[in-house]
Amino acid sequence: MIYDIAQLGAKVLRQTATSVEDVGSIDTSQLIEDLRSTLASTQGVGLAAPQIGISKQLIVVASRPTPRYPNAPFMEPTIMINPRLTNRSDVKEKDWEGCLSIPGIRALVPRYKKISVQYINVQGLYVELELDGFIARVFQHEYDHLIGKVFLDRVESNTDVFSEAEYLKLIAAAV
Ligand code: NI
Repeated sequence: MIYDIAQLGAKVLRQTATSVEDVGSIDTSQLIEDLRSTLASTQGVGLAAPQIGISKQLIVVASRPTPRYPNAPFMEPTIMINPRLTNRSDVKEKDWEGCLSIPGIRALVPRYKKISVQYINVQGLYVELELDGFIARVFQHEYDHLIGKVFLDRVESNTDVFSEAEYLKLIAAAV
């Protein structure tokens, strides 16, 4: 089922999500399918369960080049259950982000450049991964949705917040 995406102001986006205890259950499998199909119906590169109104620790991280992220690497949509950030570089870098829950807005957001993460995959196995660059950014963005945060909470200055129209002009000029 394709869900409507919760929009900024919705309470569910400000709650701390609860961990998934029943990996492999019919409910969790259904949630995974709903999250996947809802993401696939959008131009997004990631989605968190709270964004479809379910306050559970489940995210999809995906990446592909799109008109909005022309330099994004390709990554198969990956389901991460109860994800944790276990280590991070000292260095942060700023780059552009948007969010399906905050349409029409882009901002420059500082994120750790390299991170180590841990999660349970769809088979119920623990996975440890090192992520960097854009994929590390997507992870940090989606993980924030599980702790009630959105990317606007992470910007350093309001002058780093742009309308989508101005952002598109900027990246067109950079090509
Ligand atoms: Ni988001």
